[in-house]
Parts: sequence; C-alpha cells; structure tokens
Amino acid sequence: MKTVKWFLMMTALMLFVFSVTGYASADHGGNAQKKVGILLVAFGSSEASAQISFDNIDKKVKAAYPGIPVYWAYTSHIIREKLAKQGKHLDSPAVALAKMKDEKFTHVAVQSLHTIAGEEYHDLRRTVGAFKQMGAFQRVILGYPLMATQEDMQRTVDAIFKSIPKNRKAKEAVVLMGHGTHHPSNAFYAALMFQLQLKDPNIFVGTVEGYPGIDLISDLLKQNKIKKVYLMPLMSVAGDHAKNDMAGAEDDSWKSVLTKAGFKCETILKGTAEYDDFIDIWVDHVGGPLNHFK
Ligand code: CO
Repeated sequence: MKTVKWFLMMTALMLFVFSVTGYASADHGGNAQKKVGILLVAFGSSEASAQISFDNIDKKVKAAYPGIPVYWAYTSHIIREKLAKQGKHLDSPAVALAKMKDEKFTHVAVQSLHTIAGEEYHDLRRTVGAFKQMGAFQRVILGYPLMATQEDMQRTVDAIFKSIPKNRKAKEAVVLMGHGTHHPSNAFYAALMFQLQLKDPNIFVGTVEGYPGIDLISDLLKQNKIKKVYLMPLMSVAGDHAKNDMAGAEDDSWKSVLTKAGFKCETILKGTAEYDDFIDIWVDHVGGPLNHFK
C-alpha cells in the first residue's frame, strides 16, 4: 500500500514537472529552431554619402557571415525623425530588437558601429541588457565599437596610416577630427594620438566636443614647425561636423582657426566608414558574439 502510494505520488510529480517544462519550452522557445541574426547599430546620418558607406558595411558583413540576416538601427533620435520626414523609416535599437524577437530570432549579435564606447554605446549596452534580462533571446551579445581593445587601437592606427593621402610629405601634419564626449571614454582620443605619434610625430587627434580641442592642437602644430595641415574626420561619416566644424567657412571651423594661425589647410571629406581598413575592424567584431552562438 505504501509503495503504491509512493509510486502514484512520484508519477504525479513527474507528470507535473513534465507538464511545466513542456509548457515552458513550447511557450518560451526552448524547442524553437535556432535562428541567428545580426543587428548593426550606427549613430545614423541623413547624408546621401553616408548611405553608400552603410550599404558597403552591410555588404561586407553579409559576405563575412553568409546566410545570417542583417538588420539596421540608428541610435540618433534626431536623425531618425529627419529621415522619417523624407519617408525613410529606421528603427531605434529597442524597436529593432523587439521586431527580431517577434520574428523568432533566438540568437542576436548586436554590433555597434560607433568609434569609441562612449555615451551612445553605453545606452545601447543598457538596451541590449534589458532584452537579455527579459529573456527575449537565448543569447544576445553586443560587439565592441571601432576602438575598444589594444588590438583595435593598433588596427585603427594602421587604418589611419593607410587612409592618409599618399602625396603628403613627412613635414606636413595630419589632424584628425574626433567627435569627443563628456563620457570617460573620451580618453581614447589622446591615447590614439600617443600611439600614432610613436610612428609619426606629425599626426594629431583633436575633438569637437571633448579633449584635446583645436587650440591645443594648433599650439602643438606650431611646436612642430608645421606649415601645411591635412584635416580628416575620425568619424564614420563625413557629416555635419566634418562639413561645418572641420571644413566650413565659419570663423570657428578648424580650417578657419588653423588658417588664421598661419597654416595652409587641405580638407578631406571622407568618413572612416568609407575605407575598407576601418570597416574590417567593425566587421571582425561581429565575429566575437557569433562565435559564442556555435
Ligand atoms: Co555631434
């Protein structure tokens, strides 16, 4: 009698456990087929030239990871609103991830196309973290921006040297314009300049909104007795900052400030996302999360 009762109890318990786990797997995707996707996240741009760069990145990511669907999101609300007025709809990272969840993706590699892990990157990290906590996917991993590890820094240095105009002479300077930020990651710009100058003392990195500013760069150019300067953006897209703050005709543009200080200036309006050497760094970063999905 006692064993019968024990047997019945065990059977009931097992049925209960199976029904609960069965329910869980049917409802929460435990049995769902593995579906891997990539979400590329850029700050965004309304420039037509930027779309060419983004299309190029899209093509390179698809070639490197064939068969994996690639989605896009822009972090900038202003850019998304501007594009919406032109009839072009782009998702925020949160909306894009919700759609991917809806389309039954189980593993998502989110790739930041930012330059450093600043505010935009950390906002994105929080969004990805929220989806992780919700259990929306089996795995959702965020890849590093352009410059994160020491290896990235070295590759960025190499990419910069390859993108400098070939006719530039050693005594002529190159000044890169980074965005700059109040975020602690702003230190990456000075760190990059240090590593560039180990190879070439006439390469400089300044920022529009952080440290080092253009006045300090101007002083350093004088110290090195520079006469001619090439100005290049260190931003994925040669957008508003490059066109106006760097190369614009206004008194406070870098071109105006440096010209007034006696330097001959030549501007190059090409974003980093237009050069394969930079794109390859972002593309390789997508591989990190994808390796964890195997
Ligand atoms: Co800005």
